[in-house]
Amino acid sequence: MINIEEIVLDDADEIYQIENKSFKYSWSISQINSELIREKNYNICIKENNKLLAYAFSRIEVDFLEIMKIATTELLRRKGLANLIILKLNDFCIRREINKIFLDVNSNNFEAINFYRKNGFKTDSIRKKYYQKSNEDAILMSKKIILP
Ligand SMILES: CC(C)(COP(=O)(O)OP(=O)(O)OC[C@H]1O[C@@H](n2cnc3c(N)ncnc32)[C@H](O)[C@@H]1OP(=O)(O)O)[C@@H](O)C(=O)NCCC(=O)NCCS
Repeated sequence: MINIEEIVLDDADEIYQIENKSFKYSWSISQINSELIREKNYNICIKENNKLLAYAFSRIEVDFLEIMKIATTELLRRKGLANLIILKLNDFCIRREINKIFLDVNSNNFEAINFYRKNGFKTDSIRKKYYQKSNEDAILMSKKIILP
């Protein structure tokens, strides 16, 4: 059975395994831990029988939520897991009366750009050479949350 729950410190190793295989410049365990102890974060994961399959880290700012990372374990991609995570982030925003989700994505990460577009994100702007390690551009994307 699949559960969506908040990430706890004990999940850091499993997150790191997925992170490492998903990003060229992945977070280290200590970066993961420092994000986990950050007070104003909403970090969630999907587990099946206690195995962590997908996750997202997000930061709660005054009037928006910023997605820092989202990833699904390689073998289980294109099964809707990251979609479920976005739905959960939407619910969180509605509960907290946050009306915007914002993120930056590497302009060469076509899979992620498609994924975000499919989930209603629009391009706001492009930041040239935003990623210092690789000199690649970032696309800034956002999605308005309709509050009731
Ligand atoms: C981007 C990512 C999180 C998507 O996770 P996922 O669980 O496979 O996504 P979903 O199954 O929920 O996909 C939902 C929709 O997004 C789009 N999408 C997802 N992956 C795609 C891909 N590789 N190519 C094109 N479109 C894609 C599709 O429209 C898909 O719907 P469909 O399968 O019915 O066509 C996953 O590819 C990943 O972990 N990538 C590596 C890490 C990364 O780049 N993260 C994003 C930047 S922080």
